[in-house]
Formats: sequence, structure tokens, C-alpha cells
Amino acid sequence: MRGVLILACAGLSLWASPGGEYVGSNVCRACHPDVWLNSYKNPHYKSLTAGDLAVEKTGCEGCHGAGQAHVEARGGKTSIPNAFSLMPPGRILDTCLTCHSQDLSRANVKRSAHTLADVVCTGCHSIHQSPARRFLLARAEQREVCYGCHGNVRGQFSMPFKHRVNEGVVQCADCHNPHGSFAPTWRMSQRPRLVDPALGNETPCVRCHADKRGPFTFEHSPVRIEGCETCHAPHGAMNARLLRRPVVFTLCLECHNGTGNFGRQGDGIQLQSASHSMADPRYQQCTACHLRIHGSHSDSRFLR
Ligand code: HEC
Ligand code: HEC
Ligand code: HEC
Ligand code: HEC
Ligand code: HEC
Ligand code: HEC
Ligand code: HEC
Ligand code: HEC
Ligand code: HEC
Ligand code: HEC
Repeated sequence: MRGVLILACAGLSLWASPGGEYVGSNVCRACHPDVWLNSYKNPHYKSLTAGDLAVEKTGCEGCHGAGQAHVEARGGKTSIPNAFSLMPPGRILDTCLTCHSQDLSRANVKRSAHTLADVVCTGCHSIHQSPARRFLLARAEQREVCYGCHGNVRGQFSMPFKHRVNEGVVQCADCHNPHGSFAPTWRMSQRPRLVDPALGNETPCVRCHADKRGPFTFEHSPVRIEGCETCHAPHGAMNARLLRRPVVFTLCLECHNGTGNFGRQGDGIQLQSASHSMADPRYQQCTACHLRIHGSHSDSRFLR
């Protein structure tokens, strides 16, 4: 009876896995010594030392599939179920996600701009030849992985005012989740741009600029609604404080242009009024008076 059961199970797994039986990682060593040599350093090696995982989740075959047919054929690309060099992007993604869907659950990975553009796991990660200290990245530095495809962004981080990404102070992944993101609730109608929300679905900027987090008694609504990018270029700019405009008042006047465009009388300052005459240079330094431009606890005009 017991023998029949085992046979039935063996038959089942033979049918279930295209590459035949699972033969164990030691068998691969003889013919792939180069790959084996470094594999003990790989975080995936843990699946072997753990000792309590199902065969289809362990070692080489955890990714490449059952090896029996491949070994019996003495190699070959088509005899191994998952030869990544032959696999279309969607299948690579699914293979990695059999184990990593939990880790990446914070990312909308199946619909990310990268996935939709066929940039999948192996576009950024190198399982066997990673020179990086962490995360099996394909390049030693994270930014170099990204610049490989986003060359124009390198220039933005070389501008006079910038986040010091090229100097290693800030990383792309501090603001972006390369695996994907959900559409944010701040900066509403905008594309997600893989921007990685901080806890509580906030802009990632407040992870580091915590003083801008609020909530403030008096909010400057664009900070919270349109988002920091309305006034700041997140990567780099020609202007101090990463501002999108060279002179502060031209930024303010994009919205506060005297047309009363926020739906109530007097919202737009009168540009030639006694209190705010743009002809008087004194009034061009808006933030000299409106100091708490990101929000205030004590003044509805952000004067203090
Ligand atoms: C985490 C998944 C994963 C594991 C575990 C894994 N591989 Fe790979 N393997 C890959 C991927 C992905 C590629 C495609 C090349 C790349 O992107 O690094 C690959 C490529 C290969 C290649 C083609 C040659 C090359 O270097 O590109 C061989 C041979 C190979 N793997 C053998 C093995 C052996 C032997 C083991 C066990 C020691 C193993 N793999 C474990 C994912 C894995
Ligand atoms: C008897 C020798 C032999 C054994 C044992 C063997 N392989 Fe291979 N394998 C080869 C040869 C030869 C190739 C190269 C095929 C080619 O380049 O055309 C290869 C290629 C591969 C590839 C590369 C496919 C690609 O994307 O180019 C993978 C992955 C692979 N083997 C995984 C394994 C795994 C996993 C094991 C253990 C379960 C294993 N091999 C055991 C001989 C072997
Ligand atoms: C566009 C590049 C890119 C793609 C595509 C990508 N990754 Fe990543 N991945 C990264 C970077 C960069 C990090 C390091 C993130 C950090 O420093 O916080 C990372 C980290 C990880 C980590 C460890 C940290 C974590 O978030 O759990 C895992 C696991 C991971 N990636 C798996 C995958 C898998 C699986 C896929 C495919 C579904 C994939 N990655 C696709 C760039 C990428
Ligand atoms: C059989 C299950 C399994 C598969 C399939 C798998 N992984 Fe992993 N992966 C793991 C485990 C387990 C770890 C180790 C997690 C830990 O250290 O806690 C890991 C770790 C990682 C890490 C993190 C490395 C670090 O430094 O923290 C990356 C990146 C990663 N895998 C990418 C991939 C990619 C890309 C693929 C597809 C080519 C893949 N994995 C397929 C199980 C798997
Ligand atoms: C300080 C936070 C931050 C850092 C660090 C950062 N980004 Fe961004 N990035 C953003 C924000 C926010 C947007 C969205 C801008 C918008 O929609 O106006 C964006 C947009 C983008 C875009 C799409 C818009 C475009 O210009 O084409 C790409 C591509 C991009 N970032 C790549 C990168 C890369 C690559 C790195 C690292 C080298 C990086 N980013 C580092 C915050 C950041
Ligand atoms: C293999 C090439 C490749 C690599 C590597 C790569 N990207 Fe991308 N990235 C793309 C493509 C293709 C798109 C989609 C087309 C576009 O919007 O430019 C994209 C889009 C983006 C976007 C914009 C999303 C949107 O909604 O418009 C951001 C942000 C981004 N990538 C950041 C990164 C970061 C950060 C890294 C490094 C961790 C990275 N990319 C690595 C190819 C790549
Ligand atoms: C990982 C931490 C981190 C994140 C996330 C971050 N920043 Fe920064 N930011 C810094 C650091 C550090 C500096 C100081 C720059 C330097 O020392 O070169 C800075 C500088 C700035 C400055 C210029 C300040 C000055 O006094 O000139 C502005 C503006 C700014 N960040 C806006 C943003 C915006 C907008 C976001 C989100 C898109 C953001 N930051 C996300 C760390 C971060
Ligand atoms: C309505 C436009 C506007 C928005 C939206 C905005 N800022 Fe600013 N921010 C400014 C102006 C203007 C300055 C320069 C003030 C000065 O130099 O007097 C500034 C300065 C800064 C500075 C440097 C000086 C300081 O106060 O620390 C940082 C950091 C900063 N902003 C981060 C952010 C972050 C993070 C967000 C989103 C949470 C954001 N800003 C949203 C207009 C804006
Ligand atoms: C993206 C549009 C936008 C930009 C840019 C902008 N603001 Fe505002 N601002 C608003 C909106 C919307 C309100 C809220 C008006 C309301 O409550 O009806 C507001 C409110 C204010 C208030 C309070 C007004 C009141 O009636 O209590 C002041 C003061 C102010 N902004 C100053 C500035 C200054 C100074 C700048 C430039 C550094 C600036 N704003 C840039 C959209 C903007
Ligand atoms: C010399 C100081 C000073 C400067 C410079 C200044 N403001 Fe004001 N602003 C005030 C004071 C005080 C008030 C409140 C009393 C008032 O309405 O005159 C105010 C009120 C406002 C209001 C609310 C108007 C309303 O009707 O409630 C807005 C909007 C505003 N300022 C925008 C700006 C902008 C934009 C600039 C730059 C072009 C600027 N301010 C420059 C001092 C200043």
C-alpha cells in the first residue's frame, strides 16, 4: 500500500514538473562549477541550509525547475525548464514572484511602468554575477543600474542644486520603488512615476524632511494636494532650494496672480495694491515675510 502511494506521488510530480524529477543542487556542481563557486554567498543559498523547504523551493532548481531531464541530456538549453536566456519577460517575472510576491506586495509590480515596458527582475538584478554588496544588483552602485537606462537623469543630479545621489548621500530608491507603486493620494491626477509612498500614504520627501510633514493648523494647500514637486524639482535644478523658478515670486504668482482664482474674493493678491505692489522690489521676496511657506501653526498667512 505504502509503495503504491509513493509511486503515485512520484508519478504525479513527474507529470507536474516538465523537467522530470528534482535531483538536488549537488548534481549541478559537476558541470557548472563556475556558478557553484560563488553560490554560497548568494542569499538564495539559505534555501539549502534551511533544510526544511520543499524541493521545488530549494537551491538551483528553485529557480531553474526540475533538473532530471537536463542532466540526462547532459546539458542543453531546452532541457531545463527555466533557462532564463530563453524566457519572455512575463515568465521571468512569474518565476521570481513564486517566492517574492510577499516581499513585493507593497509594489504594484504587475502594473508598474517597468513591467509594462518589459523591464523585469533580471533587468536590474543579477543572480550569479552581482558585484553589489546587497540586493544582487546588476551593478555595484544602485544609481548605475538606473542610469544604464535613464541616462538623462544623471544630468539632473549634476546640476548646481541637487540631491546628492551621485555622491551616495541619497539613493533613487529613497523616493522611488523600482518594483512599482500605487497611485498616490497626494498629487492626485498625476502619474505614479514609481514614487514610493512613505508610511501613511504620504510623499516620500517627508521621510527625511520631517518638519514639512504637518499636519499644520494652517496648511498651504498645494504642499499637501499637488505635492512638493509643484514648486521643487525633485532631482536637481539650476535654482537654489531646488525651486522650479529662478525667482521665488514668479513661482508664487503662477497661482497668486491677482485673478482671485481660488474661488473666493481676495484669494489672489492684488499685484498693484498698497500691501503687495510688485513694482516695489521689497514685495518680491515673498518668503521673507511668508516664512512658513510649507504651513504654519500660528498664522493663516504663513507669516510666522
Ligand atoms: C534565484 C534564482 C536562481 C537560482 C537559485 C539559481 N539561478 Fe541560475 N540563473 C538565474 C537567472 C535569472 C539566470 C540568467 C542570468 C542572470 O540574469 O543572472 C541564471 C543563469 C544560469 C546559468 C546560465 C549561465 C549564466 O551564468 O548566465 C546557469 C548555468 C545557471 N544559472 C545555473 C545555476 C545553478 C547551477 C544554480 C545552483 C547553484 C543556479 N543556477 C541557481 C536564476 C537562478
Ligand atoms: C552533465 C552536465 C550537466 C549537469 C549535471 C547540469 N548541467 Fe546545466 N548545462 C549543461 C550544459 C553543457 C549547458 C550549456 C548548454 C548550452 O549552452 O547550449 C547547460 C546549461 C544550463 C543552463 C543555461 C540555460 C541558458 O539559459 O542558457 C542552466 C540554467 C542550467 N544548465 C542549469 C542546470 C541545473 C540547475 C543543474 C542541476 C539540476 C544542471 N544545469 C546540471 C550541462 C549540465
Ligand atoms: C528597475 C530595477 C528593478 C527591477 C525591474 C526589479 N528590482 Fe528588485 N530591487 C531593485 C533595487 C534598486 C533594489 C534595492 C532597493 C533598496 O535599496 O531599497 C531591489 C531590491 C529587491 C529585493 C530586496 C528588498 C526588498 O524590497 O524586498 C528583492 C527581494 C527584489 N528586489 C526582488 C525583485 C524581483 C523578484 C523582481 C521582479 C519581480 C525585481 N526585484 C525587479 C531594482 C529592481
Ligand atoms: C524558490 C524561491 C525563490 C525564487 C524562485 C527566487 N527567490 Fe529571491 N530569494 C529567496 C529567498 C529565500 C531569499 C532570501 C531572503 C532572506 O534573506 O531573508 C531571496 C532573496 C532575494 C533577494 C534579496 C537579496 C538581498 O541581498 O537581500 C533578491 C534581490 C532576490 N531574491 C531576487 C530574486 C530574483 C530576481 C528571482 C528570479 C530570477 C528570485 N529572487 C527568485 C527565494 C527565492
Ligand atoms: C528626492 C527624491 C527622488 C530621488 C532621490 C530620485 N527621484 Fe526620480 N523622481 C522623483 C519624483 C517626485 C518624480 C516625479 C516628478 C513629477 O512627476 O513631476 C521623479 C521622476 C522620475 C522619473 C520620471 C520623470 C522623468 O523625468 O522622466 C524618472 C525616470 C526618475 N525619476 C528616475 C530616477 C532615478 C534613475 C533616480 C536615481 C538616480 C531618481 N529618480 C532619484 C523623486 C526622486
Ligand atoms: C533595463 C532598463 C531600465 C532600468 C535598468 C531601469 N529602468 Fe526605469 N524605466 C525603464 C523604462 C523602459 C521605463 C518606461 C518608459 C518611460 O517612462 O521612460 C522606465 C520608467 C521609469 C520611471 C517612470 C515611471 C513613469 O510612470 O513614467 C521611473 C521613475 C524609473 N523608471 C526609475 C528607475 C529607477 C529608480 C531605476 C533603478 C533602480 C530604473 N528605473 C532602472 C527602463 C529601465
Ligand atoms: C533620503 C532622504 C531624503 C529624501 C527622501 C528627500 N530629501 Fe530633500 N534633501 C535631503 C538632504 C540630505 C538634503 C541636503 C542636500 C545636501 O546636503 O546636498 C536635501 C535637500 C533638499 C532641498 C534643498 C534644501 C536647501 O536648504 O537647499 C529641497 C528643496 C529638498 N531636499 C526637497 C525634497 C523633496 C521635494 C523631496 C521629495 C521629492 C525630498 N527632498 C526627498 C534628503 C532627502
Ligand atoms: C508652494 C510651493 C512649495 C511647495 C508645494 C513646497 N515647497 Fe519647499 N520651499 C518652497 C520655497 C519657496 C522655498 C524657499 C524658501 C526660502 O528660501 O525662503 C522652499 C524651501 C524648502 C526647503 C529648504 C528650506 C527649508 O525650509 O528647510 C526644503 C527642504 C523644502 N522646501 C522641502 C519641501 C518639501 C519636502 C515639500 C513637500 C512636503 C515642499 N517643500 C513643498 C516652496 C514650496
Ligand atoms: C500651485 C499653486 C500655488 C503656489 C505655487 C503657491 N500657492 Fe499660496 N496658496 C495656494 C492655494 C490654493 C491657497 C489656498 C487659498 C484658499 O485658502 O482659498 C494658498 C494660500 C496662500 C496663502 C494664504 C492666503 C490666505 O488667504 O490665507 C498665502 C499667504 C500664500 N498662499 C502665499 C504663497 C507664496 C508666498 C507662494 C510662493 C512661495 C505661494 N503661495 C505659492 C496655491 C499656491
Ligand atoms: C513685506 C512683507 C510681505 C511680502 C514681501 C509679501 N507679503 Fe504677502 N502678505 C503680507 C502680510 C502682512 C499679509 C496679510 C495682510 C495683507 O493682506 O496685507 C499678506 C497677505 C498675503 C496673501 C493673502 C491675501 C489675502 O487677501 O488674504 C497672499 C496670497 C500673499 N500675501 C501672497 C504674497 C506673495 C505671492 C508675495 C510675493 C510676490 C508676498 N505675499 C509678499 C506680507 C508680505
